[in-house]
Amino acid sequence: MNSFVYDIPTKVYFGENQLGNLGKELKKFGSKVLLTYGGGSIKKIGLYDKVVKEIKEAGLELFELSGIEPNPRIDSVREGIAICKKEKIDVLLAVGGGSTIDATKFMAAGAFVEHDPWDFFVNDAPITQALPIVSILTLSATGSEMDTGGVISNPETQDKLGRQGRPMLPAVSFLDPTTTYTVSPYQTACGSSDIMSHILEVYFNLNQDLYMLDCFMEGLMKTVIKYAPIAMKNPTNYEARANLMWASSWAINGFIRGGKQQAWSCHPIEHEISAIYDITHGLGLAILTPRWMEYCLNEKTVSKYVQFGINVFGINSTLPPMEIAKESIERLNDFFFNQLELKSTFTELNIDDSNFELMAKKACDEGVIEGFIPLNESDIKKIYEMCL
Ligand code: NZQ
Ligand code: ZN
Repeated sequence: MNSFVYDIPTKVYFGENQLGNLGKELKKFGSKVLLTYGGGSIKKIGLYDKVVKEIKEAGLELFELSGIEPNPRIDSVREGIAICKKEKIDVLLAVGGGSTIDATKFMAAGAFVEHDPWDFFVNDAPITQALPIVSILTLSATGSEMDTGGVISNPETQDKLGRQGRPMLPAVSFLDPTTTYTVSPYQTACGSSDIMSHILEVYFNLNQDLYMLDCFMEGLMKTVIKYAPIAMKNPTNYEARANLMWASSWAINGFIRGGKQQAWSCHPIEHEISAIYDITHGLGLAILTPRWMEYCLNEKTVSKYVQFGINVFGINSTLPPMEIAKESIERLNDFFFNQLELKSTFTELNIDDSNFELMAKKACDEGVIEGFIPLNESDIKKIYEMCL
């Protein structure tokens, strides 16, 4: 077991009727608030009006930046930084899904530097400071509400890159499951696939010696498998929305990782697809993950699949290990493509093999992803081909 530091200081207000605490929390950081949001869903669901009311009642000065795209663009980040600098913003309030929160994180960090924010992604520019961030989550998926990372797209270079930075961890996050009642069945499915992937990226590890964390991850995965289809069919089922919401935060807030240092595999491979084809992140992951599992399965790795199959899907433990492993992949396929009703191939998304070579090269940075099993360019290209 490796040593690690556990330190996740995001304050979470979970549940209904917590918004009354917003003004008080924002005030701790100053008086000028930049409210950031996406394409307008927060207005449709009535959340915008409630948030503005709280801000006004607290006597705070409100600035706004809307239109943050799904797969958020670096241009939106630039726009936000300009407002932070010009208006001397004290605190950012991100209201939305992962895209809005991610973009806001880099606005918060960019407010302290003179260079272009894209340097955070390509030139490893340090992130030593950021304005405080408060988030109000409206879609259970990325865990951005409780983690230090974010992913930004640059359409000019066709890159989609992630970056972590401790100062960007939200100081406070509001998680009200009722704000996710309006999330469409498709986005609910994609979000749930994303949560599953965040867990699988850590769970599929050959240096397993944190039994406690394995049990925790299996519980999280069973939660997603149980509640995602319920939330799709009954969007206002509070129990389902609440379980998905809290699972999304705990899947990626650092807790399940323990001391494991292994790189993630499916995420960098997926980000190359969203970068070029602008597809929903969770959909790309659903298509890739079972193929990646199939590709990584061998005599050395099979025991992990057996554990997964028995503990998560309840597959008969007396079957031969390879059979359990293959059945576990089948069960995951069934979850993604039958229960969540997601498309199962790139071909259905009009993605052909023309960019696979370039995408594979970029996904591993022309080296090797040291994940569950090491993957080089040629491995990644084969995984893309399996998705056609
Ligand atoms: O833009 P609006 O109008 O708000 O609509 C959004 C958007 O169209 C809509 N939506 C959000 N909440 C809603 C709602 N519609 C109705 N009712 C609501 N309550 O849903 C659409 C998707 O929103 P988006 O924020 O893009 O989704 P998600 O939360 O899945 O975020 C995806 C982005 O996060 C990145 C992904 O790569 C992708 O760019 N990720 C961030 C991570 C992180 N910060 O740690 C990790 C993840 O692995 C992921 O890479
Ligand atoms: Zn993800």
